Amino acid sequence: MSAATPSAANGRPIPVVLDVDTGVDDALALLLAVRHPALDVLAVSCAGGNVPLAQVVENTRRVLDLADAPPVPIAAGMHRPLVETPQDASYVHGRTGLGTLELPPSERPVEEVHAVELLRRTLLAAPEPVTVIALAPLTNVAVLLRMHPEVAPRIARIVMMGGAIGAGNATAAAEFNVWHDPEAAEIVLTSGVPVVMYGLEPFYTATVGADRIAELGRSADPVARAAGSLLAHLAGVTEDEDRVGSAGAAAIGDAGTVAAVIDPALLRLHRAPVRVALAEGPTRGCTVVDLRTGLGAGGAETKDAGSHVEVVTGLDGARCAGLFLAAIDPGAAVPAR
Ligand code: RIB
Ligand code: CA
Repeated sequence: MSAATPSAANGRPIPVVLDVDTGVDDALALLLAVRHPALDVLAVSCAGGNVPLAQVVENTRRVLDLADAPPVPIAAGMHRPLVETPQDASYVHGRTGLGTLELPPSERPVEEVHAVELLRRTLLAAPEPVTVIALAPLTNVAVLLRMHPEVAPRIARIVMMGGAIGAGNATAAAEFNVWHDPEAAEIVLTSGVPVVMYGLEPFYTATVGADRIAELGRSADPVARAAGSLLAHLAGVTEDEDRVGSAGAAAIGDAGTVAAVIDPALLRLHRAPVRVALAEGPTRGCTVVDLRTGLGAGGAETKDAGSHVEVVTGLDGARCAGLFLAAIDPGAAVPAR
């Protein structure tokens, strides 16, 4: 990430907010974010996505309870995309959004204000610019930027799990978070706010193998055991073994995005223009990542300054998964793969 990227290397935790559509891998991401000392989670905003908004909020509360998280403010945000018809990902995350994991109901309070207002207040009150870790469709973040442009200087960068250089997952062309709300993604990617695009290529590179998943599921530690259940669910629904390296393995998904904020050295980045295909049809929601070094016959049609983002073109997947496992299951001898 750029030289201006905050890092725990300066000794102080990185101030972050998480925007989630808790789902199975958002849950893994939340567990990592609130347990890792390199991050200071200032707020959690919820958006409809993997499952409907109300379920996202309840799942988020329960996962934060599981992690014994401090009373970090949680708020409900946008329940549907800006334009697109809502379509969830319960085919991946299960009816509840947490696979087969059953967690007790939570008493954790939810803010009365809308998530966009919580984000506005949090960003303006923070003593230094905050990293926005966006793990959901970008509806909340897009509305925040449109309603409150004054917060832009208070955002160190938006590190978004979304998009893909190549094939999609929700469709052949589109990754789910961008596909769910393409207009929101276009707004964020062309906002001029520094964006790191953690797409499907790194998303599927940080994985945990079947044996380690089984070991987590046998852990005496409730967080490690829950992570085992979540990963086992993902291994069971993974649509393409080639993408996760071996049968029975699972990608840590959104949790890899959080790990990338904790340790930017995990990443290889390439600054490039990125636009979102918005036209109806098979390409809607596709992120067009222009990695060309020169200009083609079409000239600078995508190379306008506002669409330049840091695209993750490489990830040390083993180290990324190891960082996650070390935080989730510190009691393990060696966080094997
Ligand atoms: O395409 C994967 C992304 O969409 C992940 O963030 C998953 O949780 C869903 O939100
Ligand atoms: Ca997500």
